[in-house]
Amino acid sequence: MLPQTLEDLYKKYEDDPSFFHLKRSGATRLVPGTGKFYDPDFIIIGEAPGADEDRAGVPFVGKAGEILTKLIQDIGYTRDDVWITNVVKYRPPGNRTPTKLEIIHSTPYIKQELTFLQDVDGQLAPVILLGRIALSVFFPGESIRAQHASYMHRYGKTFVPCLHPSNVVRGLHSYEYLETAFEKVRKLL
Ligand code: URA
Repeated sequence: MLPQTLEDLYKKYEDDPSFFHLKRSGATRLVPGTGKFYDPDFIIIGEAPGADEDRAGVPFVGKAGEILTKLIQDIGYTRDDVWITNVVKYRPPGNRTPTKLEIIHSTPYIKQELTFLQDVDGQLAPVILLGRIALSVFFPGESIRAQHASYMHRYGKTFVPCLHPSNVVRGLHSYEYLETAFEKVRKLL
């Protein structure tokens, strides 16, 4: 039976043996989505919690989170206006990239989470896919560099892929380059 609420969905994720190894290897808790669940202005899907997020139990509170918060504010919104979540809900050990299997096992959950969010009032809030992992869940085989700041359509929804803010933290891409994707979202609102 499909879970009926977000709480049920997260409980199912917690009880899913596919993720027990993450708990055994140091993840202390499931990190749930945060922000505006009912009728969010837009939705942001990241990769997986890191050490800071695992500690706080909130997504995007570390360095990448600071950049994300600024990107949201620079287009005139706050974290309370949007829903921020991750594909994988437990911190992978050493903040490594989630494995293919972890992504495959998390895919039905994040898709279901999206359905709950968008079904609230029939509004199709745009979805920002932050980084290549989130993009791969909805558009397998697509490149994040090629699709950055583009409009992509599936299931009647609009997705905007954006390079992960950790690229700015590591000095690989400029803040302004990531802003172009958020600007594309602003135009839809
Ligand atoms: N990176 C992510 O993808 N998600 C977080 O919650 C934090 C960093």
